[in-house]
Amino acid sequence: MKLLVINGPNLNMLGIREPRHYGTATYQQLVDKVRAYCEQKGHQVSFFQSNHEGALVDAIQQAYFDKVEGIVINPAAYTHTSVAILDAVKAVSIPTVEVHLSKVEQREEFRQVSYIRQACIGTITGQGMDGYLLAVDKLEEYYESRH
Ligand code: DQA
Repeated sequence: MKLLVINGPNLNMLGIREPRHYGTATYQQLVDKVRAYCEQKGHQVSFFQSNHEGALVDAIQQAYFDKVEGIVINPAAYTHTSVAILDAVKAVSIPTVEVHLSKVEQREEFRQVSYIRQACIGTITGQGMDGYLLAVDKLEEYYESRH
């Protein structure tokens, strides 16, 4: 499969940022881990991170033209605010899994809303970086059930 992993704001600060919630591994370590997993499974994968909402929308739209077959996305804080990112996922109709490193359902009230969730085939929370690997598995299962 051709996969795209998208990370939203402040996830470039992994390793520095609130280790209690997000662990001590860096963004580069996340990329390396997911890349190794995808390669081992024979998937083609690319990565995109931005702190800007519009750039994330652009990346989701570009995925359509690049014929991406599955998206793993951690929209970070934009999960809880962005109708534009939800609409982008709906627009491209690419199977998408929402991932959060932390267990958002056990955190503040304002993290209980996820706009993107309604356009996703699944959501994984609270598994740290392994959540991204579980998301790849979910996309694979979904793809296989349709091909
Ligand atoms: C997060 C959870 C969000 O609430 C937060 O704004 C983030 C990271 C997570 O991975 O747990 O930036 O998406």
